Amino acid sequence: MTKKRIVIFASGRGSNAEAIHDAVASGKINGEINAVVCDIPGAGILSKAEEWGVPAILADRKKFASREDFELFILQAIAPYRADLICLAGFMRLLSSTFISHYENKIINIHPALLPSFRGLHAQGQAVAAGVKIAGCTVHFVVPDMDAGPIIAQRAVPVYADDTEDTLAARILTQEHPAYVECVTLFCDDKLQVNGNIVTING
Ligand code: GRF
Repeated sequence: MTKKRIVIFASGRGSNAEAIHDAVASGKINGEINAVVCDIPGAGILSKAEEWGVPAILADRKKFASREDFELFILQAIAPYRADLICLAGFMRLLSSTFISHYENKIINIHPALLPSFRGLHAQGQAVAAGVKIAGCTVHFVVPDMDAGPIIAQRAVPVYADDTEDTLAARILTQEHPAYVECVTLFCDDKLQVNGNIVTING
């Protein structure tokens, strides 16, 4: 099977991107990372991309007058890479329905909560504040609504009485990496099927 062409979008340190990179390098994921897109100058992901020898596209949101211009720039910049899959890995921008329509069912995201609970920012802090006893992460296909879209996989972790947003985030992160790698692996092996809101895994 032909290797899938992957473009990663990230805004920060890039530990999920690194997990995907490592799984590509080891041959677990039947794909190749063709480019990285980042919206924050100086973000850790940019040095990681350089280390990997992967082209990095910096789209500094502040340099664009509107979201339309920002997204158009990204669409044009990634077009030559003919992505089969876009992985949002800590990408802190909401993509418009126009952008998403160019890559329908080809954009996936990881969110540090058991969706549909705790969408948006500080999901781990929201979980601590709500007093839930189980938290986790969700990998899902991206739709225009924030942190919504067909769920591919979730992993759970316990929440302890003395947890803070940071301690819970660290525990969830240990599950994010294998969860994201598992989902990208399934995607690249053509094993994911989406019917409405339901994702089924073939085979
Ligand atoms: C992760 O917690 C991810 O779930 C969230 O942003 C964080 C990114 O971390 N969307 P990293 O940059 O992958 O280390």
